[in-house]
Amino acid sequence: MTETLSLAEIAEAIRSCTRCPLHQTRRNPVPGEGPEDARVMLVGEAPGYYEDRSGRPFVGAAGRVLDELLALAGLRRDQVFITNIIKCRPPKNRDPKPEELQACQPYLRQQILAIDPDVIVTLGRFSMQYFLPGAKISQVHGRPFRRGKRWIVPMYHPAVALYRPPLRAVMEEDYRALGKALREWGILPDDAPDSEAASQEGD
Ligand code: URA
Repeated sequence: MTETLSLAEIAEAIRSCTRCPLHQTRRNPVPGEGPEDARVMLVGEAPGYYEDRSGRPFVGAAGRVLDELLALAGLRRDQVFITNIIKCRPPKNRDPKPEELQACQPYLRQQILAIDPDVIVTLGRFSMQYFLPGAKISQVHGRPFRRGKRWIVPMYHPAVALYRPPLRAVMEEDYRALGKALREWGILPDDAPDSEAASQEGD
C-alpha cells in the first residue's frame, strides 16, 4: 500500500527531486497549490516562464484565462487544488518527454491520494492522456467520465483561448456545463454564483 503523505511533505519531496534532468534547468519547482480538502483538482501541463519564476501554477496569461473560465463554473481558485502533470518547467516550454512524465508521476499520484478529490479537471493533452489514454480532446472536451469513485472532466488547455480565439466560446460553454454538473453532484450548492447569474442579477 502506498503511504499517504501530506501536501506539504509532497511539496518538500518535489523541491529536492532529482529524478529527471529538468531539475537542472528549472528555477523553482511548481508543486501546486490549493486546500487539502478541495473536492475539485485541476491538472495542467507544465510550468511556464512565470510559474518557474514564482513557484506557483497558472500565474501567467493562461492563468488569467483559467480564472475567468472557473468563474463561469461558479468556482474560485482558492476552492480548487491546481497542479501540473510535470512539476518543473521544460526548457523553452517544449513538450514534456515521456521519461519526464514518468519520473514525475509519483508526485501526482501522491497528491491525488492526499486530496482525494471527487472531480479531476484535466487541462490540455498531456494531462488528459494520463487519465483518459487514447481520448481526443476535440471529441471529449467538457464531458465527464466516471473513473472509479471520481469524475474526470477533460478540458481544453486555457492557453487555447489565447492562440485560437474562436474556441473560447466553446470553452466557456464547457465551464458553464461543469458548474451545472458540480451542482448536480452536490459539490457546489444549488445557488452557487456564476458570473452569468451575477450579471443577470444586475439587469
Ligand atoms: N500552463 C500549464 O499547463 N501550467 C501552468 O502552470 C502554467 C501554464
